[in-house]
Amino acid sequence: MKVAVFSSKPYDREALESANRGRHQLVFFEDRLRAETVGLLEGFAAACLFVHDEADATVLEACARHGVGLIALRCAGHNNVDLPTARTLGIRVVRVPEYSPHGVAEFAVGMLLTLNRKYHRAYQRTRDFNFSLDGLRGFDLAGKTAGVAGTGKIGAIVARILLAFGCRVLACDPFPRADLEAAGVEYRAWEDLLGAVDLLTLHCPLTPETHHLLRRESFARLRDGVVLANTSRGGLIETSALLEALRQGRLGAVGLDVYEEEEGVFFEDLSQSLLSNDELRILVSYPNVLVTSHQGFFTAEALREIADCTLGSLDAYAEGRELALAVA
Ligand code: NAI
Repeated sequence: MKVAVFSSKPYDREALESANRGRHQLVFFEDRLRAETVGLLEGFAAACLFVHDEADATVLEACARHGVGLIALRCAGHNNVDLPTARTLGIRVVRVPEYSPHGVAEFAVGMLLTLNRKYHRAYQRTRDFNFSLDGLRGFDLAGKTAGVAGTGKIGAIVARILLAFGCRVLACDPFPRADLEAAGVEYRAWEDLLGAVDLLTLHCPLTPETHHLLRRESFARLRDGVVLANTSRGGLIETSALLEALRQGRLGAVGLDVYEEEEGVFFEDLSQSLLSNDELRILVSYPNVLVTSHQGFFTAEALREIADCTLGSLDAYAEGRELALAVA
């Protein structure tokens, strides 16, 4: 089967080719799929996409015209695909529901530790032979209250790690988990959780309900000095409200592995050009903000799992078998 792989980097190519072993004809494009590039799909049976590809209604209609019957997402989130339109057009959509949730959870906890104890700033300083500790003070995690929004595969691991650090863990999720409650996690309504935490980490999907989960009113509820990490989806945080809270000096530190307008920026080397997004430039310039480039998933295990799962779905589709990982 002829498959167009969009947004592909050398590491994607290596992992997918190794899992493919010549079964399908994989054609790699560095471009993102969007209205301007959908013409590349002429003659392909399937498109393989990642987080920044845009499969909205216009793009999907063009996919259908080109004869594309399958969208294979190399990620868990499917907020970038218009699923109702895909269903109407008869385009099947598969995803990789889980690829090293440990990798993302460990990254999120690493981010909280870094923000609190300021490893990133210490690294910069000592390279300049500045061995002063001024401004590097953190706090013990043991005994502090951590909030986990979304206790699915990733959030559950984060909650258990934070419990092991000696934190009190408050969580919110429409589907509380008995195993986590038994381990000591206390579920709260989102509004109640906000005012009770010292650390906050986001692990819910981006949906119409979670869009701007953290907005002006939510920041107003937070205690002063909270350390916040978002490794989920940028749209969970209203960027202008985040900047306002930072300007007011009300947030302790913020880690963003995802950003509302990361498409076309994250995963790219823009070091030779001027970053046109002013809000992102301001965020990067704050000493108590750490921006990483949607890196949480990026482990050897995850790349292997993504490739194996994707090839499994391509095989199933090509052979007319049931698509176990279908979301449409
Ligand atoms: P999951 O589907 O296992 O868990 C998501 C949880 O969020 C579910 O328990 C769900 O009930 C809960 N949830 C839904 N709406 C909520 C709300 N309004 N408030 C609180 N909880 C809510 O997903 P998983 O695998 O844990 O991944 C979480 C998210 O992490 C993904 O949706 C994706 O956006 C992001 N992600 C980021 C990566 C990165 O590289 N930074 C890599 C992989 C995933």
